[in-house]
Formats: sequence, structure tokens, C-alpha cells
Amino acid sequence: MKYTFFLFVSLLFCFVSACDTDQATPLTDISVSSHDVHSFSNPEQARATHLNLELATDFEAKTLSGTATWDVSHDGARWIIFDTDELKITKVEVKAKDKASKEIDYMLGKPNDMLGRALQVPLMPDVDQVIIHYETSPTAEALQWLEPSQTSTSKPFMFSQGQAILTRSWVPIQDSPSNRITYEATIKTPKELMAVMSAENPRERNDSGVYTFRMPQPIPPYLMAIAVGNLRFKAIGDQTGVYAEPGNVDFAAREFAQVDDMMEAAERLYGAYPWGRYDILVLPPSFPFGGMENPKLTFATPTILVGDSSLTSLIAHELAHSWSGNLVTNATWDDFWLNEGTTTYIERRIMEEVSGRDYADMLLTLGRQDLQDDLDDLDEVDQHLRLDLKGRNPDDGMTDIAYEKGSLLMQTLEVEVGREKFDAFLRNYFGTHQFQTITTDQFVAYATRNLLEPNNSNFDLGAWIDAPGIPSSALAAPTSKRFEQVDSLRTTFIAGEIFPKFTTSSWSTNEWLYFIRGFPVNVDGYRLSQLDKIYKLKSSGNAEIAAAWYELALRNGYGNDILPEIEAFLVRIGRRKFLTPLYRAMKERGLLTQAKEIYAKARPGYHAVTRGTMDNLLGV
Ligand code: BES
Ligand code: ZN
Repeated sequence: MKYTFFLFVSLLFCFVSACDTDQATPLTDISVSSHDVHSFSNPEQARATHLNLELATDFEAKTLSGTATWDVSHDGARWIIFDTDELKITKVEVKAKDKASKEIDYMLGKPNDMLGRALQVPLMPDVDQVIIHYETSPTAEALQWLEPSQTSTSKPFMFSQGQAILTRSWVPIQDSPSNRITYEATIKTPKELMAVMSAENPRERNDSGVYTFRMPQPIPPYLMAIAVGNLRFKAIGDQTGVYAEPGNVDFAAREFAQVDDMMEAAERLYGAYPWGRYDILVLPPSFPFGGMENPKLTFATPTILVGDSSLTSLIAHELAHSWSGNLVTNATWDDFWLNEGTTTYIERRIMEEVSGRDYADMLLTLGRQDLQDDLDDLDEVDQHLRLDLKGRNPDDGMTDIAYEKGSLLMQTLEVEVGREKFDAFLRNYFGTHQFQTITTDQFVAYATRNLLEPNNSNFDLGAWIDAPGIPSSALAAPTSKRFEQVDSLRTTFIAGEIFPKFTTSSWSTNEWLYFIRGFPVNVDGYRLSQLDKIYKLKSSGNAEIAAAWYELALRNGYGNDILPEIEAFLVRIGRRKFLTPLYRAMKERGLLTQAKEIYAKARPGYHAVTRGTMDNLLGV
């Protein structure tokens, strides 16, 4: 009784006053989950295990509304806590087996800018379901509601982006990657549109506008995903296919034809694909990322549809997440490198299998350049693989430290013990941890026992994980035969003696990127304009090449001559990786006013994730 009273008082205290802004786990003093500083939820006491979601989409109001029915498992816990963000909750019911549900009073925590708001629902010992009636906000951070003009068929479109902590803005959920859930869903859409999710999906639009979904494998909350639009499906292989707006779908199926070979290579290396189907959804160009590994249905930017399949390593990357990330998941966002570093390593192993060693060497070389760029920019603590993101947005961890330093560690370990042993190690790692989460400490313990000790290696993992820079044990920077030729062409060109007849017809995107990146920023702007005359780089349909070219041009000063092209690009495309360097270069090269003018036009078309980053960058 006394204990209950104490709990009641501390709870009240918390909800009324102590949940101040950067208090990530304000309920810790009543022993709620403290292992994830980016979630208010309390899965140790009461866990929401299975979701039945029933939502209607309203494109006019830009809302999803309906109910989330959660199966909950607990051992006499007094309450269950969900994460929410900007959700309008209208009613909460609890239900015990074989009894009618009943409405119950719930509490909402004080809103936190970054983490949203805890929803606390009291439980009775026999309660095994919680039913939450709610509506999303038109400004829900995960969701982008596109105007018809932003799509290729002038029909409305909506999609979600859950990673890292945005799922809570469209589903009340225990939103920590250390948690796993299964779900089923019924989604009502306007009749001319079709819904897809990170689940078993329909192949065709139906006239009822009602779609049902099932995700029987347990997934972390950030992998819940939905998209609604004018979509068509086209099969690639038996187990693979693509969804896109009608005008894109054939093109996309051709572009991604290699996906079956990628799947075969990945299964050969790391064991059977655990998710049934592997489909790809091609989104409109405002999608804020290159790709997102939503299980069973990778979400992808249309900017990788370039006609020569030279950007499909992105698909290899998202496919690789089927093992590293989706099957074995980082326990917290401090452990993000385990998701992305391992995936980046596997991406290149897959590409080596399907496109050969020379091709993979180009990817490794470009990756090493990316790593060096980030090392030049980042504070030392942010160069550790294991991060400390307490009080910060998990987005801050999305740097090439996680991707490229993480991948370099895996590569270095591969060489340390030999490829065969390292492959077996990863295969066993995925097998023993499947459908579980992992912390950096658990990974270190597992690797020490199963990789280093059996091979009598005294490899220093700590120098990678809790220290800055590239450790001395790292492999030397890779070399690439195909890039050596690019280097010599560039040198001749810069020397300006004779304008060389370029032999670029066999170049993939990789050669172009390497070529452009290698120019000194102070190269004569006239030389750049000559290149533009011949190769039309300023109007390249390949966004990857265009973005690299614009960045060089802006840093060089030649950018002033091609600002209209740069503006068109920034207005059309919302992929954050392209936009950040361009707006930054404008800002640093005295074009802040122009950057802000362009941004004012482009901003309404960007997803909240991209807007957040650019608002900060440009001080808007
Ligand atoms: N899971 C990431 C995307 C992500 C990370 C979204 C963190 C939100 C927070 C995805 O797998 C990814 O890494 N995408 C890359 C492409 C890849 C080839 C490096 C991207 O979008 O650029
Ligand atoms: Zn990734």
C-alpha cells in the first residue's frame, strides 16, 4: 500500500513537472525501462507484442484515423507505456480475455520536442489487450502527404519513414529498436489508390479500397511502414518484384533485374532469406533517403533508376539489411553501427559476387573517401563506433562512421582471420541472434569468443569501438584499376594541354563520381564549363552524378553559371544526402541568400526529415 502510494506520487510528480525537455526516460525513478534513452516505453514491465491496426486514410485532412489494438503481456504490471508523437487520442479501452472491453482513463506525459509524449495506460492483472482510438496529425513527422503534382501520375501519394524514432507519430507503439512486434493491419484508401506495407502485400488494386496485411515475423518498430498511391506491381523473379507508379514500373523491373542474383549471393553467404518475399517500392522523388530496408518491401528513391543499373548497389545494401538490421537488430541507436557497418560490408560482398572484384573495389574506394570526409568534419567522440546519443537526435548518428568505419572494421576482421572463417562467423552470428537485438557489448563478447579467441587473435576491438579515427590495425586504403585510368584522364584534362578524347562510354556512375570528386576546387572554372559542354553534366539525368557536379561547381565558383539547373534539382528531389552538401556549399560560398530563396520554393515538397536538417543548416 505504502509502495503504491509512493509510485503514485512519483508518477504524478513526473507527469506534472519533472518530464522536462531533455529528460529522455523521466520515469526511471519508478524503474521503467532505462536501456533506451529514445523511448518512454516500459517493455520490462509490460510489453505490447502484437498489433492489430485498423486505419482509414484521409488525403484531404492528411490524417490516418482508427484503432491500434495491442496484445499485451505482463506479470501484474500497473501500467503500460507507449510512445506517441502528435497523436490525437480519443479513447483508450482495456480488455481481459472473454470479457467485454471497457474504457479507461489514461495519462499523457509532457510533450518532448524530440521524443514525443508518453501514453500511460493503467492495467489490471487480467488485462491482455489495450485498444487505442486515435488520429494522426497532418504534420506527423513520419508521414509525407504528396500533392498530385509531386507524383508522376498526378495522383495523391502518402508514405511513411519510421527510422529512427518516427513510427510513434503514426502508431502508438513501444518505439525502441530493442523491442519486437508482429502486426496485422486493415487499411482503407481512396478507391483509385492502393496501399502497401512492410508486410505481405496485395499485387493489385481492388475496388473496395480496403487492404489487409500480415507481418508474422517479429520486427522492431522502426520497420513498420506504409505507402498509399497509384501503384502497379511487376514481378522480377518468383520471390521478387517491384511496385511503382505505372509509368515507372517496367523501367524499374529492368533496372533491378540483378536482384535475384543478389539474393542468391546473399543466401549463399549468410543463410536462407528469412522474410519470404523481397519486393521494392519505388517512391516519388521527395523520398528523403536512398533506400529504407522495410522488411519484405524495401522503399527506394526513384533517383536510382538511371537506365544502366549502375546504382543498384543500393538495392544490395537494403537487401543486406534483411540479415544485418532486420533479423539481428541494434538494441539502441548508440549501436547503429552494428546495423549499418555490417550492412555496408555485406553490400560490397554481394556486389563482388554479382559484378566482380573490380566493381567492388570502386565501391570500397568511394566509401573510403566518404569516411575520410566525415573524419575531417566530425568531433572526436562522434568518430567512435559506439555512440552516446543521450539527449540528442538519433539522426546525429547517421554518419559514415557507422557505415564506412563499421564496414572497414568488418573488412579488416575478414582479412585478420581469412574470408572463409569470417563468412562462417557471420552466418553463425545471424543464426544464433535471429529475431533478436544486440548491443555493442554483446557483439564484442560474441566476436571475442567465436572469432578472435578460436583464431588466437589479439585484435583490439576497443580501438575501433570507443576511440576516434581509423585505428592502426585498419586495412590500407583500397586501390582500383578502373579508377587509375580515371585519375590519369583527369590529370591530363586539368593540365589542359590537349583536350583528351574521353573514353567514358564504358563508365558507370562510380567512375563519374570518382572523376568529379578528384578535381581540386580551384580548378579553372572555364575548364569545368568545357566539360559541361561536352558531357552535359549540369543536366545529367543521373542525380548522383548531377549532385557531385553541382557540389564541385558551387565550391569552385562555376556554380553561379548553372544556378538554374541546381535550383531545378533542389526543387525536384528531396533525398537528404544530395541536398545537404549542396545547401551547405551555397552557404559557405556566399550564396546563402540564393540558397534561402530556393529553399523557400522547395521546402513544401520535402519530407519532414529533410526539412528538419535543412531548417537547421540554413537557420530557417
Ligand atoms: N536504414 C538506412 C536509412 C536510415 C538510417 C534512415 C537512419 C533513417 C535513419 C538505409 O539502409 C540506408 O542506409 N540508406 C542509404 C543508402 C545506402 C546505400 C547507404 C541512403 O538512404 O542514402
Ligand atoms: Zn542501411
